[in-house]
Amino acid sequence: MGLPYHFVSLDEEQQVRRRQLLDGYGHFAQLSILLLPLIYQLGLGVRLLIGRLQRRNTYQPVKEHQSPVASGFKQPAIGGTGNVWAKLRWALDEPVAEGWGTRKEWFAVGLWGAWLLLLVVKDTGDDYLHVTRRFGIIAASQLPLHYMLALKSWSPIHYLTRLSHESLNPYHRLLGRLIITLMACHASLYLNFYVQNGLLLKRIKDWDVILGLMAISSALLISTTALARVRDWSYRVFFYAHVVLSVVLLPVLFLHVSHLRVYILEAAAIYAVLILQRNVDQSSAQATIKFLPGTNLLSITIPLSKSLVKRTYKPGMHIYLGFPSLPQKLRINPFSIANPRPYEDKNIHLVARALGGTTAMLADLATKPQPTPLLIEGPYGSASYFPDLANYDRVLFVAGGVGATFTLPMYRNLLRRSAAGEQIPAVKFIWTVRSGADAAWGIRQLSEQCEGSLPTECEVFVTRKGGSGRGEAAGAESIELQEREGLLGGSASKEGAADAVRRGKPNLRVIIDEVFSHDSSDRTAVLVCGPSGMGASVRREVGRWVWRGREVFWHLEEFGW
Ligand SMILES: Cc1cc2nc3c(=O)[nH]c(=O)nc-3n(C[C@H](O)[C@H](O)[C@H](O)COP(=O)(O)OP(=O)(O)OC[C@H]3O[C@@H](n4cnc5c(N)ncnc54)[C@H](O)[C@@H]3O)c2cc1C
Ligand SMILES: NC(=O)c1ccc[n+]([C@@H]2O[C@H](COP(=O)([O-])OP(=O)(O)OC[C@H]3O[C@@H](n4cnc5c(N)ncnc54)[C@H](OP(=O)(O)O)[C@@H]3O)[C@@H](O)[C@H]2O)c1
Repeated sequence: MGLPYHFVSLDEEQQVRRRQLLDGYGHFAQLSILLLPLIYQLGLGVRLLIGRLQRRNTYQPVKEHQSPVASGFKQPAIGGTGNVWAKLRWALDEPVAEGWGTRKEWFAVGLWGAWLLLLVVKDTGDDYLHVTRRFGIIAASQLPLHYMLALKSWSPIHYLTRLSHESLNPYHRLLGRLIITLMACHASLYLNFYVQNGLLLKRIKDWDVILGLMAISSALLISTTALARVRDWSYRVFFYAHVVLSVVLLPVLFLHVSHLRVYILEAAAIYAVLILQRNVDQSSAQATIKFLPGTNLLSITIPLSKSLVKRTYKPGMHIYLGFPSLPQKLRINPFSIANPRPYEDKNIHLVARALGGTTAMLADLATKPQPTPLLIEGPYGSASYFPDLANYDRVLFVAGGVGATFTLPMYRNLLRRSAAGEQIPAVKFIWTVRSGADAAWGIRQLSEQCEGSLPTECEVFVTRKGGSGRGEAAGAESIELQEREGLLGGSASKEGAADAVRRGKPNLRVIIDEVFSHDSSDRTAVLVCGPSGMGASVRREVGRWVWRGREVFWHLEEFGW
């Protein structure tokens, strides 16, 4: 066969030994998963230790805009290992290609794949059937972890790694592909065995083989419908194919061979927790939906019901919005919570751009009598694990269009803390919109909070003349209209808001250079949310400073790939 493996005949004792090795390596592959959070925690510990040692050896001047208390929390200054870590982290966070996740994710899952491959071949000798079966059992042993990575909350992985569902989702996707590759190797090697030994026509009628083929077909269908192209074409097709097929896969594998059953039962238990969690986190609400003047933006206000008031909200989190009855019930899309303190407002405020799918249905509801029953799930989001932004020297928020629903609540929260007498970092808030009316909701919130004028660090860039080009409020006179009635409307003082407004696109390089050109020991946080392309532009400019040794907390808000 030209392979190091051969079809060997084993006596009864050797077959028992092979079975023991197969089961033993399956369990070992699963138990070794416990090493992952340990390695992760160890990494965090080493980083913390190096940070502490460096702080002890480095003189930290107190910045004029910070209290000595706050500066006590500072990370290492420029120079030394701290920057090597920062550069390494930055390099690993680079996307491998647009829409394909980061180097860190591929590296971690690649290493894990190499480990699993080692467990596939170890102690198999030259026994072809042994290595063939090993592929199958090692793949099955990873299913519980794969299902656990899909949990939106209640997951021990979140607590152990302090990573949110959104940050872990790329690992779920990559691990899924790894499992399917192992399963495909198992199936192909078995089929080759049947063909080479003239057994195909006989075995293809046996239930274990039929179920095995059903399992690999379901797995391949799951991975095909999860491709970015399919998700972009129809998120619903991806989502429901994923949900249905991952349920089907479990009984099929359970019946395929008995040795996998322990893993399948574990995965099924986690799946049950997932369904329970989604149901517990979901509640119905009576929302008020209306169009914001001169835009295709919807303002959605959801009063905090008893069940919603019990949840923990942090600025930057999002909820999923769905419809309570069929057929729309099959739709559920994420939206960032646009108000920083839902508890105080006694409601959740969302701003959604009415596009083609779910948002078009919401737009339709805006024309009907209010309130409207909706389904809410969450809140979720990476923001639940963000460091306290007040511990940085500088914070830069960059938003594009409706992406400000993510950055504005965090910015407003810092302003509020400052008004309450807390020392906050030097902040810059950049918001690019197509039309003034697109920014009116946020400007109004800000000017209300700042008693009529906008903070000088806030700059709004309006990129298009005569409306956003989306068919609403177009025409030469609409600029005037939007600026007077939209952007400068409400309680905003005309002068206060007008000072913050610029025409054209922001020069991101100049803005970022300005943020970083202060003290070289400054720690800076950069948080971005907007159209795809904007994040890449900001990252490119910030990267130049990371390579010069700057310590940066970077977050680009987007959902996986
Ligand atoms: C975390 C997050 C927060 C968001 N916050 C806002 C916001 O505040 N305001 C706003 O206007 N838009 C927001 N969006 C985008 C919003 O969810 C919709 O994707 C967008 O409005 C497209 O609307 P549509 O009617 O065309 O959606 P659809 O046609 O229903 O879906 C289009 C696209 O939305 C994405 N999508 C849909 N459902 C899900 C889901 N369950 N999980 C992940 N992605 C999904 C997919 O990429 C899909 O291709 C956010 C997206 C994410 C991921
Ligand atoms: N939590 C989240 O993940 C979350 C929350 C809210 C929104 N979002 C996402 O944010 C996006 C916002 O969409 P939108 O329709 O509101 O935006 P938009 O109106 O299309 O664009 C907003 C502004 O950004 C500018 N812009 C686009 N690309 C840029 C770049 N590379 N550099 C600098 N400026 C750039 C646009 O300029 P032009 O005039 O040249 O187009 C426009 O002025 C959506 O994709 C939405 O899904 C995500």
